[in-house]
Amino acid sequence: MAEIAAKTIGSLLYEVEETVSTNLHLKELADDLPHGTVLRAERQTAGRGRFSRAWFSDEQSLTFSILIKQHLPPKHLALAALWPAVAVVRALKEWGITAASKWPNDVVVGHLKLAGVLIENTIKADSTTHSIVGIGLNVNQTEGDFPPDLIGKAGSMRLIAGRIFDKRKVFFSLLECLDETYRRFFQHFTGQELRQAWLETCGHLNRTIQTTVQGKALIGVFLGLDENGAALLQSGDRIVTITNFDTWETDDAVGD
Ligand code: BTN
Repeated sequence: MAEIAAKTIGSLLYEVEETVSTNLHLKELADDLPHGTVLRAERQTAGRGRFSRAWFSDEQSLTFSILIKQHLPPKHLALAALWPAVAVVRALKEWGITAASKWPNDVVVGHLKLAGVLIENTIKADSTTHSIVGIGLNVNQTEGDFPPDLIGKAGSMRLIAGRIFDKRKVFFSLLECLDETYRRFFQHFTGQELRQAWLETCGHLNRTIQTTVQGKALIGVFLGLDENGAALLQSGDRIVTITNFDTWETDDAVGD
């Protein structure tokens, strides 16, 4: 493994050719590694997505995980989970791509998903939280590179911008953005600034969303976030608060 020094996020950077899943790999090493460590893999053999799904990645993707060790009351964890999407949207902007976040932390351009974030938290005996923040970003895929079930759903920077990107340059600029964003929101975490920043990147605010919550279809207007980062949906005459990341699945914005 090559080791490169940088700042908080990426203070220690490991790069491997192949691993099962950077989240899994980093989780196994987490106790012995410092806050901010990043592990990037050129290839994952069993990348994982939310809802225990497989995450498709190939050599055109960026796949890496960040180890965050912090003292944060558990009630803040859901809101805290929103920072990577803000950073990815900001980094893409620097590369000329206007993307948006989709609750809780997907990054999309229109209907196409460019990046996903999988956060796995472990609360330790000393009440420190170890969070493994896994990010997958599609960089240089063409449509034919995606498996058939992802065609029309997954996008890449190349598909949006119509050009090939230097993956290493994208990686380092993304790390910088993640570092800057993390330090900005977490030096003195109140949550308000992060909540506001996430809402500014959100592509479906005040739009009608079709979603599935605990297996039940729900249509409503996405009103924003409560103070804990839960989604607020106006469905008929009631406001539904969606707090459990595991049971929410946004299909798409179905109208304005
Ligand atoms: C999602 O379902 O949207 C989340 C996808 C997260 C994928 C990334 S790729 C790097 C890291 N390692 C994994 O196994 N998953 C995350």
